[in-house]
Amino acid sequence: MAEITLNGKELETAPGATVLEAARAAGVDIPTLCYHEALGPYGACRLCIVEASGPVLKPSLITSCNAKAADGMAINTESPLVVKTRKILFELLIARSPRTKPLLEMAARFGVEGTRFKAAQGEPDNCLRCGICVRACTGKIGASAIVFARRGQGRHVTAEFEKSSSLCIGCGSCANLCPTGAIRMLDEGGRRRIFVNERVISDLPLVECRNCGRLFVTPKQADYVNAKTSGQGRPSPGDLCPECLRVSKASALSGLPPD
Ligand code: SF4
Ligand code: FES
Repeated sequence: MAEITLNGKELETAPGATVLEAARAAGVDIPTLCYHEALGPYGACRLCIVEASGPVLKPSLITSCNAKAADGMAINTESPLVVKTRKILFELLIARSPRTKPLLEMAARFGVEGTRFKAAQGEPDNCLRCGICVRACTGKIGASAIVFARRGQGRHVTAEFEKSSSLCIGCGSCANLCPTGAIRMLDEGGRRRIFVNERVISDLPLVECRNCGRLFVTPKQADYVNAKTSGQGRPSPGDLCPECLRVSKASALSGLPPD
């Protein structure tokens, strides 16, 4: 627990809270791009900057997603320096992705409309290079099927060797967590395809639910889920679609057989 001052108001934070968590708990809006609750802080996009000072901290801009709230900290989320710097960061992103709706909406929430920067070269896409998909695939799933390739302007998300990935298990975590829809998952014709900006990076067959026969999971994803949940005394979740799994669990709890 820490006693801090946030935009002039004194408050106590939850134990171990970051500045971002403390601000959000107090209802103060701070934009984030590379941060995700499921993955934790990354500190790359800098959109979450605030101005902070404290007993051992000279007034400075810090990224709130990876800074712990400490006793005596004074934090300003709307100081002139924060507003000016944040505007530049938003404008740089808009120059690269001028048609990306979630970005434009977030920028507008913080008073930024449009950009003074020249549009980036090439056809704009919806990827903001936040890294959430890459971190989810590598850090959470352990598949490392998607990576960042190249540096600078050409940096982009792709599969290994720019081909359809042999490491992808087809779980769709990347598509589920992507904040802009730049990654998309489509189940069609008995296959699951994952696209990054309309380019296929994974193409896998789907297999049936053991109970109802609906095509719902890739073989690698079923193996992954079953390995993760083995020994937990449940039906193998990788073999049953979410609906049949729910019914099966409910019947196990009630002691009644499923319909
Ligand atoms: S594809 Fe989505 S999640 Fe991945 S880096 Fe781009 S915006 Fe972020
Ligand atoms: S959200 Fe904090 S640096 Fe990206």
